[in-house]
Amino acid sequence: MNLNILVLPGDGIGPEVIQEAVRVLRKVAEKGKHAVKLTEGLLGGVAIHKTGVPLPPQTAELAAAADATLLGAVGLPEFDDAPPEKRPERGLLGIRKAMGVYANLRPVRTYKALLDSSPLKNHLVDGTDMIIVRELTGGIYYGTPRGISGEGQSERAVNTMVYTRPEIERVARMAFSLARGRRKSVTSVDKSNVLENSQLWRRVVMEVGREYPDVALDHLLVDNCAMQLVLNPKRFDVVLTENLFGDILSDEGAVLAGSIGMLPSASIGERKASGVWTGLYEPVHGSAPDIAGQGKANPLGAIGSVAAMLEYSFGMKEEAEAVNRAIEAVLTSGRVTSDLKGTATTEQVGEAICRAL
Ligand code: IPM
Ligand code: MG
Repeated sequence: MNLNILVLPGDGIGPEVIQEAVRVLRKVAEKGKHAVKLTEGLLGGVAIHKTGVPLPPQTAELAAAADATLLGAVGLPEFDDAPPEKRPERGLLGIRKAMGVYANLRPVRTYKALLDSSPLKNHLVDGTDMIIVRELTGGIYYGTPRGISGEGQSERAVNTMVYTRPEIERVARMAFSLARGRRKSVTSVDKSNVLENSQLWRRVVMEVGREYPDVALDHLLVDNCAMQLVLNPKRFDVVLTENLFGDILSDEGAVLAGSIGMLPSASIGERKASGVWTGLYEPVHGSAPDIAGQGKANPLGAIGSVAAMLEYSFGMKEEAEAVNRAIEAVLTSGRVTSDLKGTATTEQVGEAICRAL
C-alpha cells in the first residue's frame, strides 16, 4: 500500500512522541513493504510562532490531501491568557472541524503489566476494555452564540450546546457499528434530567438503536457515569457521548489504564472517494510542557495511535495488532517511562517497540 500521511508534531512533548510514532510506522511499512510518504505541517503554538495563527490554511489543505493525519499535542503555557481564538487549542478544534472527523474513538483497556499503576484496586480494573465514542465536531465546543460581553457587574459569558439530529445520528451509528464487532453493548451518556440538548440526544440514540436490534442499549446520566467508571469499569463496552462529556470522561477513563500517556485516539470522518476513511490520530494526553524536551514523555499513546491509523484508515488489521502486541510486550518487559515507574527514555521505548516488531 501507499501510505500518504500528514504529520503535525505540535507543541510540548508532541514532537518527541511523534518521532517515536513515526519510527514505528516506518518499521511497520518496511516489514510489510508498504511505501510511506510523510509530509509535515504546523499546528498549535508552533504555528502561531511561525505564521501568526494556530491553524494555517496550508495545514488544512495538507490534511485534506493526505490519506491520514498523525498529530502530537498542542498547547503552551505562554498562551494561557490569550483569548480563545489566539490559543493553540483553537488550531486543534479547527483541524477537527475542517477534516469533519466527528467520531472520536478512545479505547480504554487495562494491561496486566500496568495493573499496579492504576489508582484503583486490581480486581476492579483488571479486564476493563471499553471504547469511548466522543462526538467531536459539535456541541458546546463549537456552538454559537459564544463569547464574553459587557463590563463590570454586567459582564457575562455565553456558550451554546447545540446538536442537530443528523449530527447525533451519524455518531450513534458509529458507536453501534463498533459495538457489533465487540461485546454488543452501547451505553449512551447524557444529562437529560436537566438539558433539552440531552433529551434530543437520548431520543435520537434510541431511534438509531432500533436499527441495531442485536446491540443492547442503556443510558446513564453523566454524573452517574463518572461514578460508575471508577466503581465498575468492566460494565462498559462502548460509551457514546457528546463532545464535552466525552472530553471529561475520557480523562477519567485514562487513569484506569495506569497512565494517560497510554491512551491513543482515532477521530473518524467520512469515507473519501479513494475508499480511505478520513482520520486524525492523536494520543489523548496533552502537550505536557513541564516535561518537554527531557525524554520523559511516554510515547505509547502516540504509538497506539499509529496502530489505530493502520486499522481504521488503511484497514491493515494485522499490522495494527502487531503494534498492539509489541506495546504489550514492551510493557511486560518493564522498558517504560517514569509515569509507569520505569526508567526508559521516550526514544528507548520507541526502539524497544521496533525490536518487538
Ligand atoms: C482532548 C483535549 C482537547 C479537547 C483540548 C486540548 C482542546 O483535552 O483532546 O481531549 O478538549 O478536545
Ligand atoms: Mg481532553
